[in-house]
Amino acid sequence: MKRAFSGVQPSGNIHIGNYLGAVRQFVQLQDVYEGIYCVVDLHAITVPQEPAELRRQIREVAAFYLAAGLDPARSTLFVQSDVPAHPELAWILNCFATFGELSRMTQFKDKARKSSQESVSAGLFNYPVLMAADILLYQADVVPVGEDQKQHVELTRDLAERVNRRLGPLFRVPEPLIPQLGARIMGLDNPQAKMSKSAESPWNYISFGDDPDLIRRKIARAVTDSGREVVYDPEAKPAIANLLTIFSGFTGRPVEELEREYRDTGYARFKADLAEAVIAGMEPIRRRLAEMEAEPGYLEEVLRQGAERAAAIAESTVRQVKEALGLGLGRA
Ligand code: AMP
Ligand code: TRP
Repeated sequence: MKRAFSGVQPSGNIHIGNYLGAVRQFVQLQDVYEGIYCVVDLHAITVPQEPAELRRQIREVAAFYLAAGLDPARSTLFVQSDVPAHPELAWILNCFATFGELSRMTQFKDKARKSSQESVSAGLFNYPVLMAADILLYQADVVPVGEDQKQHVELTRDLAERVNRRLGPLFRVPEPLIPQLGARIMGLDNPQAKMSKSAESPWNYISFGDDPDLIRRKIARAVTDSGREVVYDPEAKPAIANLLTIFSGFTGRPVEELEREYRDTGYARFKADLAEAVIAGMEPIRRRLAEMEAEPGYLEEVLRQGAERAAAIAESTVRQVKEALGLGLGRA
């Protein structure tokens, strides 16, 4: 079986963009790929985190994987910092990555612009290298991610090829797997920027912690475009295009069909029906999340077994890389 690897950060509220852009694909891929999915807590600490809150969010992302339908009997679920091979390979890859290419990563540029270049952590700058290590450790064939991560997967490919050229065929070169629909869900309060966990305003996103009433209010308040026709035109009507994408994502109904139904009904009716579709689509996941909360110990056991399986694969890759580089001496 070919292998899929991906990760989600435990930093903020898991939202419908994470689901439609990434996690839903993980679940669908289970029949075709061996899945290895990680809660990337070492990525989260590239910006300051409050320890108790970080711990809570690690559990939340792991629970979300299970609630969304990942089956621990078929997929490996684990927490990144439980497998020390991740930072170990990341250091080694840092010695292959260049300052220039990391400076060109748009996510870094965005985040550094919001604070200041001088004061962002060096970890934030090196973040894509840790991501490359995550992927290459498992010799993944595909990396299911939203559009925003495409550049990081491309960097991963470059690094893999560079190392392979210098040291021999150590790494499989992975392909990004980006969904046709939902790869870039935009903010409800601003259709020019992606929906984000760390958005300042809660009106930006719909999270799986939001109750139905709040979801109705968030959708009712969502920005719309001028005019009154519900048509899919991302250039002229980015807000409505985004809402149509979400509607289609949660119902499986093609965008054209939704356009036909709602073109002339006005925004209010469209939004009311959209809210009910989102609530219905999220309901089974929200229910399983609540059930899991009542089952203490289950999640920890899944993560413990996952970390053990992951570590075995990861350590074997690191051993080969170290040997190829001529590193180490004391331990076989
Ligand atoms: P993050 O929340 O940054 O850890 O992202 C986890 C996964 O969700 C990654 O594969 C992202 O590409 C994806 N993702 C994050 N935000 C969005 C969004 N607004 N639309 C679609 N996918 C997203
Ligand atoms: N950088 C990714 C994000 O913010 C999360 C991530 C870390 C990841 N390591 C990964 C995604 C490895 C895919 C594969 O969304």
